[in-house]
Amino acid sequence: MSSPLAYLDAAGQRAQTILPLTWFTLFVSVVVCVVIATLLWIGVRRARAAPGVDIASVPVSRGGNGLRWITIGLLISAVPLLITLVWTMVALAKVSGPPAHPGLTLDVTARQWWWDVRYDAEQASDIFETANEIHIPTGVPVLVRLHGGDVIHSFWVPKLSGKTDAIPGQTNLSWMEAREPGRYRGQCSEYCGDQHANMAFEVVAEPQEDFERWRAGQLAPAPQPTTESERRGLSVIENRCGLCHGVRGTRAGAVSAPDLTHLASRKMIAAGTLPNNPGNRVAWIQNAQQLKPRNLMPNQYLPGEQLSDVEAYLELLK
Ligand code: CUA
Repeated sequence: MSSPLAYLDAAGQRAQTILPLTWFTLFVSVVVCVVIATLLWIGVRRARAAPGVDIASVPVSRGGNGLRWITIGLLISAVPLLITLVWTMVALAKVSGPPAHPGLTLDVTARQWWWDVRYDAEQASDIFETANEIHIPTGVPVLVRLHGGDVIHSFWVPKLSGKTDAIPGQTNLSWMEAREPGRYRGQCSEYCGDQHANMAFEVVAEPQEDFERWRAGQLAPAPQPTTESERRGLSVIENRCGLCHGVRGTRAGAVSAPDLTHLASRKMIAAGTLPNNPGNRVAWIQNAQQLKPRNLMPNQYLPGEQLSDVEAYLELLK
């Protein structure tokens, strides 16, 4: 498998449309470089072979001395330029909107430095929110409405889709469609502050049934705590974390930080920064500022027992 951000390896229809154009322009550029380098080399050799002639004093005039070659050169360069222009227009028109009625619509809000993802639905009760991990069914065009939460960011899933800016006060449309199931890495591609590089996300493409199962799981409220430790953990989360984070089905109802309702089901935390495991979750709670400096999550300095209670509860959030 190629690297996660390899855009020369298209896995969706949108990326597939752009890829041949990329190869064509690359090919033309290389040919042009080679031709010019060769002509230059021939010219230099000829000049050396005739040492008495001062090149600067040779007039470029009609009827001789190479003016015809300049005209031919212009014509030759106009052809690939024209082809590239027309092809670009056609490709742009083709990728500008989903090829069919979108099977799924997402509202993605880019924030310093994470992605808020809202699954739209006809029924209000089917709408839910998650963060940094986007599941989509394969073979279905997905419309992405992009919102800017603070500064300008850019939504980019190299293998599936081109870049689209997320601008505050504006809604930009993007779309993607995955041909094959898989995990496709996405990355913010507009410099947006200190942690721009740590503003990643993942698109998980899966067969329709798997997607439906995932969606049903995400729609459910958070599981109830059963042990004393989990209950104490929930109470800490409601009283402290709940000032910024939300956990559906509990008193933690804020929306300014990533939704935690099914946190344990995600593969990464902190927008693709760390693998999601107990050690990293605990480290993140206590030391978010060292792990991702200047992000909005303050270090918590919870006493040991409270920390293990919180982790016991977070583990439940599958
Ligand atoms: Cu967000 Cu770069």
